Amino acid sequence: MDRRKFIKASCAFCGTALAGAALMESCSKKTNSVNLSLDLNSAANTQLNAVGGYVYNNSIIIARIASPLASSSFVALAQQCTHDGCNVSYASATSSFNCPCHAGKFDTSGKVIAGPPPSPLTKYNTSLSGNTLTITS
Ligand code: FES
Repeated sequence: MDRRKFIKASCAFCGTALAGAALMESCSKKTNSVNLSLDLNSAANTQLNAVGGYVYNNSIIIARIASPLASSSFVALAQQCTHDGCNVSYASATSSFNCPCHAGKFDTSGKVIAGPPPSPLTKYNTSLSGNTLTITS
């Protein structure tokens, strides 16, 4: 291969690599926006009418952590533990989200408080209007 062809081929390769890197970068920054509405009168959500109850919806665990029917009485976190992906559950006695696989624990903000999870659970916003609980990212 002569010098001119080599430079031309190298430039084509670099251009393709840069375009691929830019594409990967844009894909990695893509965030899944969440906008869920839960009807607290629905049979699927009856657990949320009592403190300590929780449901899973769209890979999110939604828990009732306090009594007053208010936005702040609900917590919504990613349901999969950041260690190995097991589903966490809510334990009202300790106000924590516990992972059954390796004893990981998270507080109600999603912060790791025990065990091997390397990072917090994603926390979502909760807002209540009448009997509709809305979860957003
Ligand atoms: S998967 Fe949750 S602590 Fe290991």
